[in-house]
Amino acid sequence: MTEKTQSIHGQWSSRFAFILAATGSAVGLGNIWKFPYITGENGGGAFVMVYLLCVAALGIPIMIAEIMLGRRGRQSPINTMKSLAAEAGADPRWHYLGWTGMIAGFLILAYYSVIAGWAMAYIVKAFFGQFINSDAGEIKRLFENLMANPVQQIFWHTAFMMATMYFVMQGVQNGLEKAVRFLMPALFVILILLVGYAMSTGAYEQGMNFLFSPDFSKIDADAVLTAMGHAFFTLSLGMGAIMVYGSYLPNHVSIAKTTLFIAGADTVVALLAGIAIFPLVFANNLEAGAGPGLIFQTLPLAFGHMTGGWLFGLLFFILLFFAALSSSISLIEPAVAWLVENRNIERHQASAWAGAACWALGVCVVFSFNIWSDLKLFDKNLFELLDYLTANLMLPLGGMAIAIFAGWMMKTQHAEQELEMPAAGFQAWHVLIKYVSPAAVFLVFLHVLGAL
Ligand code: PFF
Ligand code: NA
Repeated sequence: MTEKTQSIHGQWSSRFAFILAATGSAVGLGNIWKFPYITGENGGGAFVMVYLLCVAALGIPIMIAEIMLGRRGRQSPINTMKSLAAEAGADPRWHYLGWTGMIAGFLILAYYSVIAGWAMAYIVKAFFGQFINSDAGEIKRLFENLMANPVQQIFWHTAFMMATMYFVMQGVQNGLEKAVRFLMPALFVILILLVGYAMSTGAYEQGMNFLFSPDFSKIDADAVLTAMGHAFFTLSLGMGAIMVYGSYLPNHVSIAKTTLFIAGADTVVALLAGIAIFPLVFANNLEAGAGPGLIFQTLPLAFGHMTGGWLFGLLFFILLFFAALSSSISLIEPAVAWLVENRNIERHQASAWAGAACWALGVCVVFSFNIWSDLKLFDKNLFELLDYLTANLMLPLGGMAIAIFAGWMMKTQHAEQELEMPAAGFQAWHVLIKYVSPAAVFLVFLHVLGAL
């Protein structure tokens, strides 16, 4: 294969631009909305430890592999896998990995957009001072009213999908870059502020204990699977999002160093969100296992009582919206890139089609929080089903396949060429990607099947 130096869809202007975009993809609702609520549902410390272990042993090596495959293929994940399989002399069916990834992104975005819509609804609530001096009961009622109202949720879900499509149409390289540069540090500062408030609540120690003292009797096979799945979800791994971003990465940028930064930033944001939220949960006698509404029922309490809370609350939900937006565009980019390559249509048209399809499924997700809440399969409503299918099953399996491809199919010398790492670092990565990562995913699945 002749080495391609650039994707037809363009290229990041610099290493820094890629870091911004990939960190923008990683840091999102997964850190601030999902991590705290699944930690609460799964008993805290032990769950957090398994998650951190998975980030280190699976997330980091697989992110390196995914970016590497993208940069070497320089196309949408489907076509990247096609040409890399050909180059490696591997089975052409490896390109189905691109397909399952594209479908996973589509299924995730359908519910991701609904939750991002909640964050948008909360921008308005914050603006009108609806949290000021409210007690836990009133804050809870605000959230329940939103859940019971499909029209309002569909309105915000529509607004969020339109924002996503707008930025995807610009091309991810010039879409959010400028915004993300300022917004991510701002989000970080507000989280630190919230942690400061949490320290003053009196239940700070209890919150920290919940998060960091592991009690392994609290977790079962399914919790371990959820923790592992979340490591993939939070790092945007296993479905081609990071692969397609890698395809726009200039040659000779250090993939390993970049990965460490992205994974580090993502983990810090998640932990800060947890440290801000759990003291509030215990100080107000709320339920740690409250589910997807957890941040919406806790953080407004802090904003309603702290000095400057009106402004910080408003800023927080605006920043959460942008964090979600910089993730959602990466969820749909693999599909858009593929449509442009294979269906020969313009980028804006491809974005519109992909977005419209996601929107329709998202409307059904809205109903799963109200009029269809009793409609269950395997004891899960549509939202829970999509979340489980994608985060717990599709992403880990996709990640395992990426590891197997990078470790066993691709020529070692090609991987060396792409990664340009010191020999010891490369050796360590190669052992992880070849043996440790695939085996770990496999063992967790075995454990889950055994526990059924
Ligand atoms: N990593 C994002 C988050 O934590 O919110 C979610 C996500 C984005 C998952 C892109 C998967 C993906 F491909
Ligand atoms: Na994340």
